[in-house]
Amino acid sequence: MKKVCVITGGGSGMGLAAAKYMPKDKIIIVSGRTMSKLEGAVKELEEAGYEAFAHTCDTSDRESVKALAEYAASLGEITNVINAAGLSPAMADPEKLLRVNALGTVYVNKEFSARMNEGSVIVDVSSNSAYVLPKFMINKKTYALAETNEDLFLKKSLKLCRLPKDEYNKSGFAYALSKNFVVWYAQHCAFGYGLKGIRVCSLSPGLIATDMGNKEANAGGDMLQYTAENRMGTPEELGYAIATVADERNGYLAGVDILVDGGATNGKNFH
Ligand SMILES: NC(=O)c1ccc[n+]([C@@H]2O[C@H](COP(=O)([O-])OP(=O)(O)OC[C@H]3O[C@@H](n4cnc5c(N)ncnc54)[C@H](OP(=O)(O)O)[C@@H]3O)[C@@H](O)[C@H]2O)c1
Repeated sequence: MKKVCVITGGGSGMGLAAAKYMPKDKIIIVSGRTMSKLEGAVKELEEAGYEAFAHTCDTSDRESVKALAEYAASLGEITNVINAAGLSPAMADPEKLLRVNALGTVYVNKEFSARMNEGSVIVDVSSNSAYVLPKFMINKKTYALAETNEDLFLKKSLKLCRLPKDEYNKSGFAYALSKNFVVWYAQHCAFGYGLKGIRVCSLSPGLIATDMGNKEANAGGDMLQYTAENRMGTPEELGYAIATVADERNGYLAGVDILVDGGATNGKNFH
């Protein structure tokens, strides 16, 4: 049976860059909402020697995620899931950000883990924005509602997002909250799926020069001064990091967030 690697958000940026570092004996499925983008990604992967397929999926829609997981399982054994789909503050309002980044991660981890076996891996892409929220604003009981009562999860989370005054900062707050959730949820899943042999990690990039990163460069640019080399990361650097975490040979890496932000989060302590 062929091994299958599924990449949500695989049509561009870090997801597509990660695909190019995966072993070539795997089938790669790139997924996202825009078929033309996915077709371009498949073409690039085929030219690089991969067997690749495109499948549209909106990760904020559980049925759509279920259909993607069923499609992947029909092609072979799902061994790697890289959940790179996401929206940034400049792209969406707080509710949309929470639906795609937070609830989308719940749908992906749940629908795929139900179809994965021992030795498989899920990597959820978060952000170093996950680390900017004051601790008192992080409520694990609210996070747990994402699995049991989505409406209440959204209501309680959106109440917090109304605290900042302007629209960009409301979305910025929602982004940070949704990505903090991703870090927590990946750990929650790591300990939930661990005995089944499914390894789960999150990975938090800093400011990376993808379409999204370039859109956020003005707002996030002040983070750069705290990086060790005073620069943005490249999609290729992050692709390599993500693919390494998603590699089955990295078998003891679980229940942890891997911060790949050029030092920006820790750099604040040295300025
Ligand atoms: N770039 C940065 O500076 C940075 C920093 C920290 C974290 N991140 C995170 O890294 C991940 C990858 O982002 P990137 O920088 O590589 O940006 P990107 O090139 O914009 O990639 C994001 C991908 O997600 C897809 N997507 C968006 N909403 C979706 C949805 N509802 N369902 C399925 N797919 C969806 C997009 O395709 P469609 O629009 O066609 O669906 C796009 O291909 C994201 O989770 C992002 O939050 C990025």
